[in-house]
Amino acid sequence: MTSTLLLPADALVLLVGIAGSGKSTFASRHFRPTQVLSSDALRAMIADDPTAQGATEDAFDLLHRLLEMRLRRGRLAVVDATNVEEWARRELVALARRHRRPLIAIVLDLPFEVIHERNAVRPDGPRPRAALTRQTRWLRDSLLSLPGEGFDAVHRLGSADEVYSVRVEVGPRP
Ligand code: CTP
Ligand code: MG
Repeated sequence: MTSTLLLPADALVLLVGIAGSGKSTFASRHFRPTQVLSSDALRAMIADDPTAQGATEDAFDLLHRLLEMRLRRGRLAVVDATNVEEWARRELVALARRHRRPLIAIVLDLPFEVIHERNAVRPDGPRPRAALTRQTRWLRDSLLSLPGEGFDAVHRLGSADEVYSVRVEVGPRP
């Protein structure tokens, strides 16, 4: 059965998933480019390299500021970052609350084997295995803590099939 995710038009949507789980692919399939705030894209704008760790702080500073501007206007905003650490989500949760916007999590929780297969053949080079293992642990913790963090909905997609077949519908503007 194909499931449909109904998203309010003024929502803050967090994609949650480890490196290579398909967040950017999902974002580009279901959302307009202007709706997506990507930490990798912002790192690239700042330092010409989407993986430049030295640009992380500036990239998230910018991401939060852009997000604030969209939320103030009630424009749908999708955060394309791993979002697997509770502390990284905290500021996003606070921003949604401050602007009284619906807060939605879409968790891409794919089997580790699928992610490893894809990681090995990534055109932009594989991510270190240790990073994926660490992020997987944080994702497990996230699945336990997300329901208590103030989200209006947490949608978990648990297989490649589910991710592929899900439909996304954005509601009318309030
Ligand atoms: N991919 C795939 N099939 C999908 C989705 C993604 O084969 N259904 C591949 C992509 O082509 C890419 C890799 O898996 O080579 C990672 O996908 P991406 O969307 O870039 O994952 P992200 O979660 O955005 O990874 P990162 O956190 O590193 O940005
Ligand atoms: Mg990505």
